[in-house]
Amino acid sequence: MARPKIEFICQNCGTSHSQWAGKCDGCGEWNTLTEGNPLAGVGGGPGRNAARGREVALYSLDGEIEEAPRFQSDIGELDRATGGGFVHGSAILLGGEPGIGKSTILMQASVALAKSGHRVVYVSGEEAVAQVRLRAKRLGADAAPVLLAAETNVEDILATLNGIEKPSLVILDSVQTLWTSTVDSAPGTVSQVRSSAQLLIRYAKQTGTAIILVGHVTKDGQIAGPRVVEHMVDAVLYFEGDGSHNFRILRTVKNRFGPTDEIGVFEMTGEGLQEVANPSELFLGERNRVSPGAAVFAGMEGTRPVLVEIQALVAPSTLGTPRRAVVGWDNARLSMVLAVLEAHCGVRLGSHDIYLNVAGGYRVNEPAADLAVAAALVSSLTGLALPDNSVYFGEISLSGMVRPVAQADARLKEAQKLGFTRASLASGARKTVAVSGLELNEIEELRELVVQLADRKPQGQ
Ligand code: TYD
Ligand code: MG
Repeated sequence: MARPKIEFICQNCGTSHSQWAGKCDGCGEWNTLTEGNPLAGVGGGPGRNAARGREVALYSLDGEIEEAPRFQSDIGELDRATGGGFVHGSAILLGGEPGIGKSTILMQASVALAKSGHRVVYVSGEEAVAQVRLRAKRLGADAAPVLLAAETNVEDILATLNGIEKPSLVILDSVQTLWTSTVDSAPGTVSQVRSSAQLLIRYAKQTGTAIILVGHVTKDGQIAGPRVVEHMVDAVLYFEGDGSHNFRILRTVKNRFGPTDEIGVFEMTGEGLQEVANPSELFLGERNRVSPGAAVFAGMEGTRPVLVEIQALVAPSTLGTPRRAVVGWDNARLSMVLAVLEAHCGVRLGSHDIYLNVAGGYRVNEPAADLAVAAALVSSLTGLALPDNSVYFGEISLSGMVRPVAQADARLKEAQKLGFTRASLASGARKTVAVSGLELNEIEELRELVVQLADRKPQGQ
């Protein structure tokens, strides 16, 4: 009999190796390879002598389609992030750092669904039933008919689920604690997580029950679990936030049934997570209008405008290599903006330390923030505060030009709604934008903005 093939799987990134090694070729981590049999378990492929395949039907692209049937949790921000509610039979991965509030949001969703007549099963592999009850009590929702279980074995969970009337939603908190007897590695390893997730996803597809798998992710997002099941599930949501701030963002990074880039915004309070209907008000809440180095960026998250303050501090450096520190934005993007300011606008920053921060612990992913960053940097360097009624957005090209960005209308409307009266943006906007009542400061080249900012009197504009 042929010897079973053995492979070594990295517990960090899931790369498989034919030989054991101290360091993983895939991610460069040390001591992460463990032995596994690629053909064993549910996650494995068919044996080498698989029977001949059967023919499957082929279809044309045009044909009957049905809108995916959904059910809503009535937590508006959560339904927005899932693209309009949970799709029956779909599998969702909810990732996030430990302690960010994943169990809390899911308990709130379970309670809301149970109250509107849905059958919801909450399987906790991390907390005992009493602990889960305690949280529900704290949320003021202990009377809701949610079915609880504290279990980690997938076969037991499936037997339980098959023994009751079909639930609408099953929550598994968390995928790292699950284990199946078809694989003989420890819970939390790549093969266990992958196989357990696969069994549960198959259950979802077969029965039409939606499932949510919770996955813990560390700060750098590199831990066995969430990453290896991302491709298997229909939707991936990440719950983000910053320990020192109370707001949390539910971000959709993949959705087979709806748009990605949508966000839901919540605030963590003593009684659980509260929805934040207008995030801009939250992020601009503590704005200091008179200090130099702060610019308001009119950003977008999916279809939703979000105004945030970008803060820059430029100070002469005592170090040979000046410091560049960025929180909430892309480091490489800052270097690019600095290079353009130096090369095309005569702004010398080579001997200055530069700190850039997006207020409120928020993270900006758009290149459209370039113009706001440049304005904040110049303002800090000159020591002159920017006009407090102004927003900035636009992408800066390496040649020093300001490029228009998408959804200018929505950005301007939001700015106007929050009382801003002036917007600095790429030229050509007047022709395309339908917002009236806002003064548009069109900028073709970044140099023009630098001249405008440097020419101002300390108090006026
Ligand atoms: P939790 O949902 O347990 O996080 P996760 O499942 O992502 O690990 O949330 C834990 C944190 O949330 C904990 O630090 C306490 C805080 N919290 C509140 O501030 N208010 C509340 O009502 C609840 C239930 C938790
Ligand atoms: Mg938890």
